[in-house]
Amino acid sequence: MKRIAIFASGNGSNFQSIVDHIKAGKLEAEVGLVVCDRIGAKVIERAKKEQLETFVFDPKEYESKKHFEGEILERLHKNHIDLIVLAGYMRLIGPTLLQSFEGKIINIHPSLLPSFPGKNAMEQALTAGVRITGVTIHYVDEGMDTGPIIAQKAVEVEQGETIESLAQKIHDVEHVFYPSVIQKLLKSSN
Ligand code: GAR
Repeated sequence: MKRIAIFASGNGSNFQSIVDHIKAGKLEAEVGLVVCDRIGAKVIERAKKEQLETFVFDPKEYESKKHFEGEILERLHKNHIDLIVLAGYMRLIGPTLLQSFEGKIINIHPSLLPSFPGKNAMEQALTAGVRITGVTIHYVDEGMDTGPIIAQKAVEVEQGETIESLAQKIHDVEHVFYPSVIQKLLKSSN
């Protein structure tokens, strides 16, 4: 069974959907580690409830990214992780992790990249007035939401769309799309 680590910074609804798909037998994987860079984030409570090993850290307590990523790397190796899944981890990945997990780090982003990278992607799409936005799953490189695209799904921006209604639609798509793409990736890497 392939082992994944999920990195998240906030609510963790994507974390939850991945765990729920595993429990339902729709995603053949084990969550070997949950990494969170924000003390008190909701995802930590979710991970504890699922009795998963967590590594929660405060980046400010480390001298540099190299130092906290070094500690993450040790735990990834100790837990025999095959794939790193970023799910709302709002931090660039540095060379320490990129070099050791080359081609084995993926991210989900709430827009059709390369449009609207970075924070507040849904607000950016609404402000730009696009009629189609969506969700992108991509490999992670050193840039901000710039790595090679694996899969995308479109979401229509309807008349009178608000940030709340768009966020709901995007999340609904993410929660099914991410587990299914992870399943495909793990199957094809056998
Ligand atoms: C998701 O919508 C994800 O696409 C986005 O953060 C949200 C996390 O929600 N990621 C990015 O914007 C990455 N640049 P969640 O914590 O409820 O899973």
